[in-house]
Amino acid sequence: AQKAATLPAFRTRVLPVVVVDDADHAVDLARALWAGGIDAIEVTLRSDAALAAIERIARHAPEVVVGAGTVLSAQQLHQARDAGARFALSPGCTPALLQAALSARLPFVPGVATPSEAMRAAEAGYSLLKFFPAESLGGPDTLRAWAGPLPHLRWCPTGGITAARVADYLALPTVAMVGGSWLTPRSALQAKDWGAITALARDAVQRSATGAA
Ligand code: 3PG
Repeated sequence: AQKAATLPAFRTRVLPVVVVDDADHAVDLARALWAGGIDAIEVTLRSDAALAAIERIARHAPEVVVGAGTVLSAQQLHQARDAGARFALSPGCTPALLQAALSARLPFVPGVATPSEAMRAAEAGYSLLKFFPAESLGGPDTLRAWAGPLPHLRWCPTGGITAARVADYLALPTVAMVGGSWLTPRSALQAKDWGAITALARDAVQRSATGAA
């Protein structure tokens, strides 16, 4: 079987999940996260501005590794790659999406919510999976249980995670990183309060350091 491309290197273990409404703010946002110690960002394809935002971050803030989130189709995967996304994530995984990412050689993190889905994604060549929606599905306890029969899989839990939970997830050896939107509240984005976002990033980085094994 083909093996999925590995994620580009970045050091953050906390991945901001962002809805960008105005591409003009994307570079400032990426730099604000960077100033707080975060060197990767997931721009979700949930807004019209998303692809333009990815393009601008890739071009003007290359120190931040930009990924595309909420990728639901092969077409969106290709659009994200063409815009400059260096990896992609999805809340789920379809055979078409798994195959498209392999063919495009774009590092891809498929979303799963059950062991069967995880096993199917692993069969297709993927070993880093998104656990979504993490908090609703039992949080770290569920991943701890899955680590028994599925010790070879690595996880990026997202969905309902807040700063207070970061260390709980990262304490698990199977958790590679956690994702969430708490780092980039819409109110702060609209107010262009980059200082607030840098502070949230710094706080998350501190918590991720204490969560490290
Ligand atoms: C995602 O797409 O990963 C989630 O929407 C992030 O979940 P959150 O908004 O609850 O952090």
